[in-house]
Amino acid sequence: MSKILITGGTGFIGNWLVSHFLSKNHNIIAHGSSKESISLLKKNLKKEDISLKNIEFWEQNFMEKEWDYPSTISDVEAIIHTAAASRVRKGSIHNYDEYFKLNVICPKILAKKALEINVKHFIHLSTGQVFGIPEKFPFTEQTPKNPINLYGYTKLMGEYVVASLGVLGLHYTIVRPFSVFGRGHYNIISIITDKLVNNDMLTIYGDGSQSRAFLHVLDFCRAIDLILFNEKYYSEEFNISGPNEYSVNYLVQLISNTLKIKPKIEHKNPIVNELKRNIADLSKIRKLGFKPTKSLEDFIENDLLNA
Ligand SMILES: NC(=O)c1ccc[n+]([C@@H]2O[C@H](COP(=O)([O-])OP(=O)(O)OC[C@H]3O[C@@H](n4cnc5c(N)ncnc54)[C@H](OP(=O)(O)O)[C@@H]3O)[C@@H](O)[C@H]2O)c1
Repeated sequence: MSKILITGGTGFIGNWLVSHFLSKNHNIIAHGSSKESISLLKKNLKKEDISLKNIEFWEQNFMEKEWDYPSTISDVEAIIHTAAASRVRKGSIHNYDEYFKLNVICPKILAKKALEINVKHFIHLSTGQVFGIPEKFPFTEQTPKNPINLYGYTKLMGEYVVASLGVLGLHYTIVRPFSVFGRGHYNIISIITDKLVNNDMLTIYGDGSQSRAFLHVLDFCRAIDLILFNEKYYSEEFNISGPNEYSVNYLVQLISNTLKIKPKIEHKNPIVNELKRNIADLSKIRKLGFKPTKSLEDFIENDLLNA
């Protein structure tokens, strides 16, 4: 079995990828930025009854100038790079340097390291936000990239940095998740739920007609599994969203109907430029056998309050 380094193993998608690849008997190095986030990851894995036998942990804050790599780094056969400044709305002039360092410089350092140690495959997680507002929906891999916020711009620069090492021989694939949901994620679904349960005011930015195509995190992990170590997909890009679009207004209605709580809603102007729609054309990833299996409705009905 292979040794896979998952950066951001302590994050939402990273945590699920760690569980997924451990369950497939791979050896994992799970990265996190701090002792606290790594011990939380350990706790989560124990809760799921996952043995820690095949896992090592790498604590490294990527904002530091010098990094200490784990002693086993040269055995790594694949890197799945998920760590990032990952919030669209937080990207501003106040944390410009952090977004640039984490989303542009950090992939450069890691992808260069991957090439130096002859990693077989470097999978780089980008985002659907790199496309901005295109003329046509859904977004294909050929859709022109015109990001409209700091997050989208820095993630696009991160893609180019990885591709620049591709021309020097790095075997990489760019994977763009769109809106991933599942247990353990602080996102629009958990925010709406928290506000309703606590009877707090729910702020909707804009008129609420903006939509997202949610994909369950387990389906996302399966997509990564289809791509990993497959030479045909070196230097390729994949857009991965759920198959259906949900507007914010519809989502609020769905969750409030399920919880049987009437929402208190206020509307505010968006804090950053946001996409009106964000849905991938799944044709390319479907050719690999990818098929979303878990619906958002099921999750809202059955898992919402355990999320
Ligand atoms: N979730 C989605 O719907 C979605 C959609 C589009 C794209 N993506 C992309 O998918 C990837 C994973 O997203 P996610 O939702 O799992 O993000 P997340 O939950 O916010 O996790 C971010 C990860 O990055 C790490 N990180 C942040 N700052 C760091 C630092 N200074 N040094 C080292 N590590 C640091 C965090 O480590 P600690 O927790 O240890 O601090 C965490 O493991 C990201 O690249 C994101 O851009 C996600």
